[in-house]
Amino acid sequence: MSQMKKENEKRANPVLDEQEQKIKEKLSKIEHKIMVMSGKGGVGKSTVSINLAVGLSLQNFYVGLLDVDIHGPNVPKMLGLERGELQRRPDGTVGPVYYSPNLKFMSVEPLLPDKDSAVMWRGPMKMSAIRQFIYDIEWGELDYLVIDAPPGTGDEQMTVAQTIPDAYAVVVTTPQEVALLDVRKSISFCKKVGMPIIGIVENMSGMICPHCGKAIDVFKRGGGERLSEETGIPFLGKIPVDPRIVTTGDAGKPIMAMYPNSHTAEAFERLCQNVINVTQTMILKKKEQEEENKEEEKP
Ligand SMILES: Nc1ncnc2c1ncn2[C@@H]1O[C@H](COP(=O)(O)OP(=O)(O)O)[C@@H](O)[C@H]1O
Ligand SMILES: [Mg+2]
Repeated sequence: MSQMKKENEKRANPVLDEQEQKIKEKLSKIEHKIMVMSGKGGVGKSTVSINLAVGLSLQNFYVGLLDVDIHGPNVPKMLGLERGELQRRPDGTVGPVYYSPNLKFMSVEPLLPDKDSAVMWRGPMKMSAIRQFIYDIEWGELDYLVIDAPPGTGDEQMTVAQTIPDAYAVVVTTPQEVALLDVRKSISFCKKVGMPIIGIVENMSGMICPHCGKAIDVFKRGGGERLSEETGIPFLGKIPVDPRIVTTGDAGKPIMAMYPNSHTAEAFERLCQNVINVTQTMILKKKEQEEENKEEEKP
């Protein structure tokens, strides 16, 4: 009887099964999936996601950037996408937007009726929208998919964890204690769902005075490094406070692209390099593990 019930349940949802299959196919073509998260809003997740994606694309990787911040989608504005630039396919679906030939991105923002619309979706709707972003969008072969998450550990992060079982997280924090308290929640979320954290980024870490060139510790300093030492999670880098991050973000031209020789762009470059190193090491380890498993299977 229970066997029959199971069989019926299996047959009851062919649409979901088909989605599941499509999602698996799409994800199998993407080498690394990285969710950028933090306990708080305004710590610079979107800024880090965008500059990480742009930085990786400047090193000739194929990169996708997926904005799953459904209530506060900032990626399109920060990348300079005008509404109306979306490619609509003949079947009514929407394609990813190209920032450059090897960087595509997608966000819920262009799908809203106007730019000031508030999204009032409950969990299941967010979940199906995010899943649709993965299976309906032509991501193609990618080296990296960077996922910009909203603050906290809610439906969006949960959906990413469930839908992309091999995703890893980058946790962004600012140096002060309050922000660090929140970040511990992100760390414990990742532990619970089994998502490896590839590292911590300390944003707004000191500011270089434009007049005297000395560093000013606006929000203290070194909290991220201390957290990294304490938890054993790698430290990926610190990004200083730079007013040009705000102006370039508002102008839709990321600082990595606008001021490639600035101190801040160099800080982002180091961050990208560390992400590349950590992810390449993960691949090597995975391959070694697979080889070991094969050896063990031999009679
Ligand atoms: N290092 C920084 N220096 C100056 N401004 C920054 C820095 N990082 C982020 N900002 C600004 O702070 C605001 C919030 O950043 P954002 O990336 O949108 O945060 P989140 O996605 O975590 O909410 C934006 O206006 C952004 O330009
Ligand atoms: Mg954001």
